[in-house]
This record gives sequence, C-alpha cells and structure tokens, in this order.
Amino acid sequence: MSGTFYITTPIYYVNGTPHIGHAYTTIAADVAAEWQRTRGAEVFFLTGTDEHGQKVLQAAEARGMTPRAHCDDIVQRWKAMMARLGVRYDRFFRTTDEDHRSVVQAVLSKLHAEGEIYKAEYTGWYSVTAETFLTDKDVEDGHWKETGEKVQQITESNYFFRMANYRDRLVAHIEANPDFIRPQSRRNEVLGFLRKDLGDLCISRPKSRMSWGIELPFDADYVTYVWFDALLNYLTGVGYHPDGNDGYRKFWPASYQLLGKDILTTHSVYWTTMLMAMGLPLPEHLYAHGWWVSADGQKMSKSLGNVIDVDLLCDAFGVDATRYFLLREISFGADGSFTYEGFLSRYNVDLANDLGNLAHRGLSMTHKWLGGVVPPAPEPTEAEAALVELATNTADTFATQLDDLQFNRALEAVMDLVGAGNKYIDSTEPWALNRNGQTARLQTVKRTVLEICHLAAALMLPIMPTKMGELLTKLGSSTEHGTATVRALLQGGKPLNALTEGAALTIGDQLFPRHREMPAAIAALMDVAESAPEPKKTKKKKKNKKSSGPPPLGEPIGIEDFAKISLRTGQVLSAEPHPDADRLLVMKVDIGEAEPRQIVAGIRDRFTPEDVVGRQVVVVANLKPANLRGVESQGMLLAAGGKSVIDLVHVDASPGEVVR
Ligand code: MSP
Repeated sequence: MSGTFYITTPIYYVNGTPHIGHAYTTIAADVAAEWQRTRGAEVFFLTGTDEHGQKVLQAAEARGMTPRAHCDDIVQRWKAMMARLGVRYDRFFRTTDEDHRSVVQAVLSKLHAEGEIYKAEYTGWYSVTAETFLTDKDVEDGHWKETGEKVQQITESNYFFRMANYRDRLVAHIEANPDFIRPQSRRNEVLGFLRKDLGDLCISRPKSRMSWGIELPFDADYVTYVWFDALLNYLTGVGYHPDGNDGYRKFWPASYQLLGKDILTTHSVYWTTMLMAMGLPLPEHLYAHGWWVSADGQKMSKSLGNVIDVDLLCDAFGVDATRYFLLREISFGADGSFTYEGFLSRYNVDLANDLGNLAHRGLSMTHKWLGGVVPPAPEPTEAEAALVELATNTADTFATQLDDLQFNRALEAVMDLVGAGNKYIDSTEPWALNRNGQTARLQTVKRTVLEICHLAAALMLPIMPTKMGELLTKLGSSTEHGTATVRALLQGGKPLNALTEGAALTIGDQLFPRHREMPAAIAALMDVAESAPEPKKTKKKKKNKKSSGPPPLGEPIGIEDFAKISLRTGQVLSAEPHPDADRLLVMKVDIGEAEPRQIVAGIRDRFTPEDVVGRQVVVVANLKPANLRGVESQGMLLAAGGKSVIDLVHVDASPGEVVR
C-alpha cells in the first residue's frame, strides 16, 4: 500500500486516567501508521480527547473546577501517556479546539437548513452517567439492566437528526462491502441491530440540564449532544469544513477507524448516517477491537480496583515490551484477560529467551571468534537457502497481516523466523566449527544468524521502535537502513543480505534482560490485591453469581475408563459461525487423518472464527458424532472453563499425535 493512509483512534473522555485499554487502541493505531510510513504511504494519524458532555462536566464539578480548566489539566495525562508510549500522532485533537466548534456549528446549520434536523418533544428513560435515553426494554424497576444504575423518566423538547431515513442505504452499504465493519462478527452484530427499527437521533441537550458543549447555531438554549460533536473530530482533524476547500479529501475517507466494541453502534450507525446526510463518503474500514478484562473476566474500572496502569508496566518491563505484549497476546478483535503472570511469561519466552538469545548468541560468538565485525558468507548451503525462503515468506506474511491489522499473526510470523534462527544455531553448532577451524562455514553461519536478527529487528521497528533501533545499531546498521531493507523486500528484494561486511558489531547490554521473578513494584501490588477484600461487584454480576468453590469432581474412574478416550492433537483449518446458533462455531480440524473433522463447539462467546483458525488444539477423537442444531459434529475440543469457555487447550505438536 502506498498513497495516503488515514487512521484514527476514538477520542478519549477526559474524566479519568488512561489505562491499558486506552493505550491498546492508541498503540495499535501507532503501529499501523508507522507500518504504512515504512511502506511509503503519506500517513495521517489522529487521536485526542473528547471533552464535552455530562461525564466531563460532573468530573470537573467533583474537583471544584471549571470544565475548561479541568480539561486543560486532564488532557496532559493523555498526552503524557502517549509520549511515554512513543506514540507518533499527526494531530492531538481536542473537541474544545476552536476549529472544531466552527465545523460542528456549520455542519449543524447546513443539516438543519436542509431539513435533516427537526425539533420534537420526547419522553423517556434517561441515564445521567451515559447521557443517553434508554428504551423500555433496557429498563427494569427504574434501573438500567446493563449497569444496574438508577435511571429517570424525563420529558424534553429536543432536536433530532433524521437517522432512520438512512437505514436502508446503510444496510446496503454494509452488505455490499463485507470488509467495511471488521471483524466479521461485529459486522453481523450491526446488521442484526439494523434489522430492528432504527429511530432518529437526538442531537441536542437543553442547556438548563447540561450546558458544557457546543451551542446549537440555530437555538441558543441548547448544546450539541456529545457524540454528534465528538464523531465530527474525524473530519475536523483533516481540515474539513462544510464551507471550506477540498483539502481534507487528501485523507478522507479514512483508511481505518479503530474503536472498542462498546462504541460500535455510535460509529457504525450514528457516524455513518451523519456522513450520508452530509453527502460524504464512508470510511474504508471500521475496526472494532476487543476489551482487555481482568483475569476473572471483569471489565476494568477504578471502582473495582482492577485497572492496569500503563506507567507501571513500562517501568517494570519497558515501553517496547508493553507495546509488544498488548499486540502479540490477543488477536485484534477478541477480548483478552490481562494477567501480570501472562505478561511476565510472554516477556521471558518471546523477548528475553527467543529474540534476546538469538541476538546475544549471534553477536557474542561473532565477537569472540570472528573479530566482532559482520562476516562474509562464503559457504551457503541448503540450510541457508531454506532460511532465505522462510525469511521471504515471513516478510510477506508480516506485511499482509499488518496491512490487515492482524498484529498478533504478524508478530507470530517474525517469532517463527527467530525460532528457526535459534534452531539453526543449535544444528550448525558454531562452537564445533570454531573448534575445528572451519572458519568459512563459521562465517556463513554467523552472517546468517546476524541477518535473521537484522530482518526481525527491521520488521518489528514499528512495534518496538527503541529496542529494535538498538538492535539494528548493535548489528552495525541503523533504523534508516532497517526501514530501507523492509521496503526493498516488499518490492521483491532478496532477504538476508542487508548487512555490510566488515561493519563493527557491538554487544552492549542484553536487549531484554530475563526477569526471574515478578518485578518488585508489580509483586507488591499483587500482594496488596490478594489481601484486599473482594471488590464490590456490579448489580448485574451479582445476579449471575453462582455458588462459590470449585465444581465437584464426580465419581473416581479407573484408568481403563480413561483409556477409552482417544485424544489427538489437531489444528483448526477453518471456522465459521453456526448458521442457527449464536454460541456455536463450526470448524474443520486436521487431526492427521485423510479428511479434516467437522467439529461444532460452543465457544463463540469467547472466540471469533478468526481467533481460532490456525490454533493447535486437543480433540476427543472417538466421540460418537452428534447433531448440533442441524450440523454434524465429529468430535470435541478440550477447553478450560466451566459453562463459559476461558481458553482452548493448546499443544505445540503437529496434528495426529496421541495425547494421554
Ligand atoms: N469518548 C468516547 C469515544 C468518542 S470517539 C468519537 C469514548 N471514550 S472512552 O475514553 O470511554 O473510550 C475510548 C476507547 O477506549 C474506546 O474505544 C474503548 O473501547 C476503549 N477502551 C476502554 N477500556 C478498554 C479496555 N479495558 N480494553 C480495551 N479497550 C477499552 O468512548
């Protein structure tokens, strides 16, 4: 991809402190932007803060400050978080910016004059915290079912946008553009939502109730509904003005708009229909990512005390490792449980062990035996040719997956190459080559290892800019040369010949020192959490809570009973939603037989089809076939969790191995 690339994050409310959930979207956008810059695109990356509306007003009042002073203060936390994470945005947008007020008012005036906005009286349930009217279905005994919050019935005159008029056009657009809303499961969710009646959108708030917002240009008693104001940031950010010039067209329509799954409707329905009414094209893709939740599946919130602090992670493990972990650990679209243990293990295995070791072994052996400079490669053999082929495929996969925002798969591909590099060292035994005086072969092996390090570092620059920059320097290369190497590869160049023979290498400190135990600051925090009383649960969670304690184990069985079960390793080849059951996925799983098995599993609450394809699983292979809502299931996957699945049992083995 070259040309232009415009990517946005949601703009963040300035009513709290940023945590890893917010860092996640921002890092994802930063990596996508940096990757497209590497590819040669002219990039515009927009992020910022959402500063109007009730929530912000309440937060300011609670601090005894004017909303403006509150925003000016809190916005610094967001900017600091982004600076800490090394995020390179092109504009940090604030909805209180002067150019934005002018755009919002001009859009409103135009739509009002065209009859797209009308005034009407409305009575309904209203949530103060979410600043939204609810339908009767959402409310039970005067409480919002979803949050348990007490809500009130209010009657108001307000202004409405004729959103309902655009429903059919929107459905047609989503149907004609299967990749418009991603991942697929979210697209289906939106289509499901649009199947119901779509009402018009209330776009005003009477100042008598809430005055912190942009005044309606045609009625000074009202301010603009915060979402109508906030969504327009994506246009103001690239210079749009209804009465302005066409400059914004350089970047609009956006290539990717990232958002969390909780704000899917506001983006895929409100925003899109607003654009239609304004006569503007829709973004190319809306990508709804999943949520980071706590180990027990709870939403992160200050009141539950389970918020993960970005600074703490960066202090303990480093900024680059934090960026790596968040993108490597879960597929973009799925939810993920954050645990410090998971972070520590991912850090040690991938970064300290696999990548760190490869770099260290490459550099230190060359230093000891070959004078500490990039050696020539005088004796390439089949082993090196195979690595060149693997490296070519790695670069291809990496590029395709990153273009597609599949960060975890892109990183997995690089780590596979790193793994192959480590195996290559083990099998070529450079220590023996050195002992036996086979210098030419030793040079080839070391050069190949250093080249693999170089390619891995160059590819992962957008994800870990500092550490990969350091690695490139250690290899006698540079960030610029790393980027040029990737560009050359994307244009069909041959991999593993990027280094300059004779260039001086530096060993220096370990890139990712191994953490033998949990860093002290985090360990202390975990101790406190463990000894703290159980956090208050939300009303909804309480209702669903089952009796505590582990489930009973059942009658003991003899080994002969267990031996009746044939477990086999497998790999998921494909997966799709069951046509008639929301919770089921229909998969094709290779278990080493001539034909893959069709297996239907109730795991869709936890996994999207994209999450499971490629996973190595364990299959109960001699289970009688069962018919699940009209689809035959020829086996069962082993999974952890009770009624709700936590994870699939994973094995690192090729399909068809016996599991016992
Ligand atoms: N201000 C609105 C967005 C307006 S965009 C025109 C908003 N702000 S927010 O600060 O509440 O959330 C911003 C983003 O952070 C959302 O995409 C939300 O999904 C994301 N996250 C907040 N907590 C999260 C996790 N725990 N995990 C992942 N992302 C989460 O909504």
